Amino acid sequence: MKNITIFKALVVEKTPEKQFVREIRERDINDLPPGDLVVRVHYSSLNYKDALSSTGHPGVTRQFPHTPGIDAAGEVLSCQSGAFSPGEKVIVTGYDLGMETDGGWGQLIRIPSEWAHRLPEGLSLRESMALGTAGFTAGLSVLKLELAGVRPDQGDILVTGATGGVGSIAVSILAGARYRVVASTGKEADTEYLKGLGAAQVISRDMVAAGAEKAVLAERWGGVVDVVGGTTLVAALKSTKYGGAVTCCGLVGSPELSLNVYPFILRGVSLIGIDSVQCPRELRAEVWKRLASTWKPARLAEVVTECALQGVEPMIQAILKGGVTGRVVVNMLES
Ligand SMILES: NC(=O)c1ccc[n+]([C@@H]2O[C@H](COP(=O)([O-])OP(=O)(O)OC[C@H]3O[C@@H](n4cnc5c(N)ncnc54)[C@H](OP(=O)(O)O)[C@@H]3O)[C@@H](O)[C@H]2O)c1
Repeated sequence: MKNITIFKALVVEKTPEKQFVREIRERDINDLPPGDLVVRVHYSSLNYKDALSSTGHPGVTRQFPHTPGIDAAGEVLSCQSGAFSPGEKVIVTGYDLGMETDGGWGQLIRIPSEWAHRLPEGLSLRESMALGTAGFTAGLSVLKLELAGVRPDQGDILVTGATGGVGSIAVSILAGARYRVVASTGKEADTEYLKGLGAAQVISRDMVAAGAEKAVLAERWGGVVDVVGGTTLVAALKSTKYGGAVTCCGLVGSPELSLNVYPFILRGVSLIGIDSVQCPRELRAEVWKRLASTWKPARLAEVVTECALQGVEPMIQAILKGGVTGRVVVNMLES
């Protein structure tokens, strides 16, 4: 184990025609960027951002050839700084992993040890990647709603993009914490899946975004976890009850917001930005601690599709079209 220097990784290459092609290759540890921590990756996952990196989206990755994978969980092979011991199990999410730094879709990563967290008690490496950045972001969103004073007795919580990675885990956490969750989805066929995760009600995407152009809408939500942006986020803000809060982490619908100030000045609504990448270490540790204990989704296994690196290509195409339900774990030991 300790002597692994050649490993498999998915490599994205930019062709002279500016196309982006992907193939699994053998790589050498010496090709990896500098860092004091080397981790043998057991599991990674697929996030929307990985699909963007894999297809050359310049907002995520500009340097090619590149190995995507913003999530990694595995065993420490070596740590020059002494922050971790060989054999310790660690999770890495966020920072630059999988963006400009070669990521978890390689069987080895070399990173600064500050990016790694000890695997909290209560989670296996596979479970930590079933959560991954999406689960961490869902947890951070719920924590920020709580810190903003949102409580179960203040009304329904809307989760948008509910069948996706962030959405599925947010529904599970909120339902487990006794909030009444209304899940919004474009996939009517997944209604039972969402109810199985704990959603009290499932509504269509279009219903949530309706009336976004109006000055203000009837008060409906005690809080909102939004991953969609655009008119969905605008309508959600305009329907949030007095004193409620709305978290914003994503842009699958649109990065644009055409908004007025009424939700803020008439209803005291808070719009809370969520960033999983630079999230401070203490907050990160708190979210992982909760995800491993009180917030651990009861039906985490049901949210997960597992594939090896060889099976990731169709998943990339599916997530780009909003077609993935739940989370995709990439088994790097079997790749
Ligand atoms: N800020 C951060 O730190 C952070 C961290 C993680 C993720 N994100 C962002 O959060 C978003 C969600 O990430 P994810 O990993 O959950 O992605 P995902 O698994 O692809 O889920 C996104 C879900 O949004 C819905 N959706 C897709 N296209 C849509 C459209 N055009 N209009 C409305 N809804 C649409 C779909 O769910 P339904 O069919 O159920 O509606 C889809 O499953 C992405 O934008 C991602 O980049 C941000």
